[in-house]
Amino acid sequence: MITDFKGKTAVLTGAGSGFGLECARLGARLGMNLVLVDVQQDALDKAEAEMKAAGAQVLAFRLDVSSAAQMEAMGRAVLERFGAPHLVFNNAGVGSGGLIWENSVKDWEWVLGVNVMGVVHGVRIFTPMMLEAAGKDPEWQGHIVNTASMAGLLNPPNMGVYNVSKHAVVSLSETLYQDLSLVTDQVGASVLCPFFVATGIGESHRNRPAELQGDKPTRSQMIQQAMTGKAVSSGKVTAADVAQRVFDAVASNQFYIYSHPKAIQSVQTRLEDVLQARNPTDPFADKPEIGAQLRAALRAG
Ligand SMILES: NC(=O)c1ccc[n+]([C@@H]2O[C@H](COP(=O)([O-])OP(=O)(O)OC[C@H]3O[C@@H](n4cnc5c(N)ncnc54)[C@H](O)[C@@H]3O)[C@@H](O)[C@H]2O)c1
Repeated sequence: MITDFKGKTAVLTGAGSGFGLECARLGARLGMNLVLVDVQQDALDKAEAEMKAAGAQVLAFRLDVSSAAQMEAMGRAVLERFGAPHLVFNNAGVGSGGLIWENSVKDWEWVLGVNVMGVVHGVRIFTPMMLEAAGKDPEWQGHIVNTASMAGLLNPPNMGVYNVSKHAVVSLSETLYQDLSLVTDQVGASVLCPFFVATGIGESHRNRPAELQGDKPTRSQMIQQAMTGKAVSSGKVTAADVAQRVFDAVASNQFYIYSHPKAIQSVQTRLEDVLQARNPTDPFADKPEIGAQLRAALRAG
């Protein structure tokens, strides 16, 4: 739990766009030192210039969060410049869809690499630094926020790779919370589970590395890309609203962070399926026309 952010240090992955960028803006406004991490150079450069102009001390790293070595080098540089970070936002992530048997090995490697291993690296590199700082100073407070998704609590169809990656992030984060509470009261953890919010997530493929480029997308993948694009761009909650919720959660030691609290109804339905050993409920029960459209599109020709 961090109540006074001034002069504290935040590490933010995916800081060039969306939630990462909005959290950086909020951090700058609150007087934090910022470590900006992103794989997209131009977006990172813009964010760095903006945060410096806002008066923040900034370290920027263009790197791929799925790389253990690049993340470790970044961690060493952060420790040297600012000491242990107080807030770590393991947020960089990419989206990919399609019927689960149509995803290629490269699709799995790319999405699990960024969404899961990126968070794993952030946690394994920074938690020990934070615990050491906490051990030396009883006043020291730190907090780790991992970005999952409502897709980490539900399993919407035609986006299996993403669902698997985000369930892993929820599991990792709940375990992190429990593990931290075994050893300290000074470092907390939260998991961010947004529903659809307009960011660059619909164009994630812009940052897919050449060596993990897939084959031509299948029909189900193109259908999902179009549906996600539509859902994301019509979201009413903004990325800035979500960033504010992240900071509020860090300041109040709240574990689950939702962008759309009403969407949690679907989680209740899913968990009731589990508890009653009932077959999974139709995810489109509330919006049958969307389900019908998707089925028709997938079965056509
Ligand atoms: N926007 C939504 O509707 C939504 C919903 C649920 C979860 N999320 C999650 O929110 C997180 C942030 O995404 P966003 O919506 O702000 O999208 P975004 O595309 O606007 O921002 C993601 C940032 O991560 C960076 N990035 C991508 N791959 C990277 C890598 N390998 N290494 C370092 N940086 C990388 C991108 O360059 C980009 O700047 C993601 O984990 C995403 O899965 C988003």
